[in-house]
Amino acid sequence: MTDTAPRPRRLQGADVGIPPRQLDFRLPDALAPWAYADNATATLFLAMLSAIFPPGEDFFVRSVVAFRDRVTDEELRAKVAGFTAQEVIHSREHDRLNAAFRDRGFPVGVPEKAVATALKILERTSPRQQLACTALMEHFTAVLAEDILGSDEFGRRVHGDIAELWLWHALEELEHKSVTYDVYEVIGTDQAERDRAVPLVLATVGVAALFGWGYLLVQQGIWRRPSDLREGWRLMFGPGQFMRRVLTRMPVFNHPRFHPDKHDTRALEQQWREILFGEDGSLTEQLRRPARRGSA
Ligand SMILES: [Fe+2]
Ligand SMILES: [Fe+2]
Repeated sequence: MTDTAPRPRRLQGADVGIPPRQLDFRLPDALAPWAYADNATATLFLAMLSAIFPPGEDFFVRSVVAFRDRVTDEELRAKVAGFTAQEVIHSREHDRLNAAFRDRGFPVGVPEKAVATALKILERTSPRQQLACTALMEHFTAVLAEDILGSDEFGRRVHGDIAELWLWHALEELEHKSVTYDVYEVIGTDQAERDRAVPLVLATVGVAALFGWGYLLVQQGIWRRPSDLREGWRLMFGPGQFMRRVLTRMPVFNHPRFHPDKHDTRALEQQWREILFGEDGSLTEQLRRPARRGSA
């Protein structure tokens, strides 16, 4: 060993399975009229979800970064870095999708602002409580992601123009699904905090999200189309349908021995890494292009 021996390289997100992928989705000039199963009600639910990701993910990152200094394990520090970078890119690409929704005539700024305001209320709780709320919401995004990737339903229902953005986001949500909870374990999880997270998130983000969806439905005049409303509600919340499946998997978060990794999704992640970013992956070419500079 000499003085000139290189210092060991600090672990990055990509070294621990959470690679930030610089993607630049090419969205069409005009989105399909109703991208989710040709149904307005369900499409506006998806638009609302996209609208609330940027303020939501910003909150997630801030609540985790608040405890970054408490993380001494090098591997977990790298995971936090990977998680942060992935979420920042998700927000950027959803901002672009949201701009396309606005061009389509959807006032997605309303659900975005409603959720941003709801998160301001959550910010009045302790940093520990905010981290518990983020762990709950990351559980939600992980379950949502697994549902999206776990069958071909999403691909069949959602127009190809925007489906790949959701598939990429879903893959990365699974890749980093345990990071928030691991940081929470570093500071010591608390059952009461985890239990309180449920009503706190429902009363703030949940209410704001539903308000935002309702606003879009009224503004687009869908409330005058009962058959579309009925079908859209069925597609989202009907027995065995998308959001019903997701919501029924939420209570496991409050189990005393909950940990995201107890539900193994590694095979699904590997399958979708191959589909999206493998040798002939559908997004491999987009990944190879240099990152955009200077454009929003
Ligand atoms: Fe995300
Ligand atoms: Fe996430």
